[in-house]
Amino acid sequence: MSLVEVSEAFKLTEGSEVKIRGWVDSKSEVGGIIFLTVRDGTGYIQAAGKRGVVKEEVFQSLKRVTKESAVEIEGVIREDKRAPKGREVAIKSLNIVALADKWPITKSAVKSPAFLYDYRHLSIRGRKASAVMKIRWGIIRAAIEFFTERGYWLISAPTIVQSACEGGATLFELDYFGKKAYLSQSAQFYEEAAICSLGKVFVIQPAFRAEKSKTAKHLTEFWMIEAEKAFMDQEENMKLQEDLITYICKKVVEEHKSELEGLGRKFTPPEPPFPRMTYDDVVDFAKEHGLEFKWGEDIPTPVETLLSRSQTKPFFITDYPLSARSFYHLTKPDNDQITLSSDLIAPEGHGEIATGGQRIHDYQTLLMRIESQDLPKENFSWYLELRRYGMPPHSGFGVGVERLTKWIAGLKHIRAASLFPRTITRVNP
Ligand code: 4AD
Ligand code: MG
Repeated sequence: MSLVEVSEAFKLTEGSEVKIRGWVDSKSEVGGIIFLTVRDGTGYIQAAGKRGVVKEEVFQSLKRVTKESAVEIEGVIREDKRAPKGREVAIKSLNIVALADKWPITKSAVKSPAFLYDYRHLSIRGRKASAVMKIRWGIIRAAIEFFTERGYWLISAPTIVQSACEGGATLFELDYFGKKAYLSQSAQFYEEAAICSLGKVFVIQPAFRAEKSKTAKHLTEFWMIEAEKAFMDQEENMKLQEDLITYICKKVVEEHKSELEGLGRKFTPPEPPFPRMTYDDVVDFAKEHGLEFKWGEDIPTPVETLLSRSQTKPFFITDYPLSARSFYHLTKPDNDQITLSSDLIAPEGHGEIATGGQRIHDYQTLLMRIESQDLPKENFSWYLELRRYGMPPHSGFGVGVERLTKWIAGLKHIRAASLFPRTITRVNP
């Protein structure tokens, strides 16, 4: 009797004796036969025991076992057309390792999606949540492969910082032994320091935003894949993002076919090149659709969503006005009001998944920018100082892991892309 994982059990020949450990995903009784669906993280398998065929004590254990109990089952692999994927385990013995209380997540108890998130510590055992988490890991795994193949170095940046990367509005402030500090919004500044040591770097780590609005695409804690490269201009930066997203999408479709199917998601990996439009094109588009906004402002969410719905593959928006961007952005050589930056927008209404740009590498230019925007110079002194010690032109970008997951997995709300989501209204469980 060999201990196997569920996924392996499907590869064994009929008649093989197996021991399987997992949780009772569901239980039913038909005509004196008790059916269990057992889940172990690698898959689901049906196990069955019939009164009179199994020992009476085993049948009594089958009677007693509850949904979500942890169990150890011994039995024989049997082909059965009626079983999911044509296989089941004919139970010989059942060891109830940890008996579960009555499962609180029932159809009648679930009155709102919020209920499932109050019980997230338990509801993540469901098929949908686990499929999403597997896809999320597929995305991160693919990103690591992509950057490894291209010779990028993974670094880890601090998440307690004093230099705010993306402006004061979304900063979580904390008392750092009597001094003000913040939770990091982005690892970008630390990557910029690291490229002068390592040339090209990436991070995959948490980022924090005190997002005051309640939307389907904002978390207060999320994970970001960020990359930065010395001597890279904005054109190459966009190409890198295009290659990364293409690579990730292909990999996820190859390696997570069953999870995507389980979610009912038909996802076709996009082919490069991704279309491009300028910020001015977006202003015109908004006007045509009666959603006018003032030039120089951030693109309002309804405009971004409508635009995103009109597309079938990701696209770039380029040439953002300086007024809509953070202070570190380099402007175009022929126009000091337009930045060399881009947003990458996912189709089908999902919206922004990445932002990137070329950074100011010149000391005087950055000093003037910091002063003209009245930013606290002392907090940026080290960032500025980098520009005095051989800082070449450089660029980089950040992709939100949960945003990407939301799009690829076809989720309605970003919280479903996070194991334990943090939003304006939720810090527990
Ligand atoms: O557009 P953002 O703010 O850009 C930066 O932070 C740059 N410093 C990155 C860089 O160049 N290294 O954030 C980057 C991405 C967004 O495009 C989005 O995908 C995600 O991070 N993101 C969020 N995801 C979930 N919830 C939020 N509140 C998010 N804010 C940004
Ligand atoms: Mg952005």
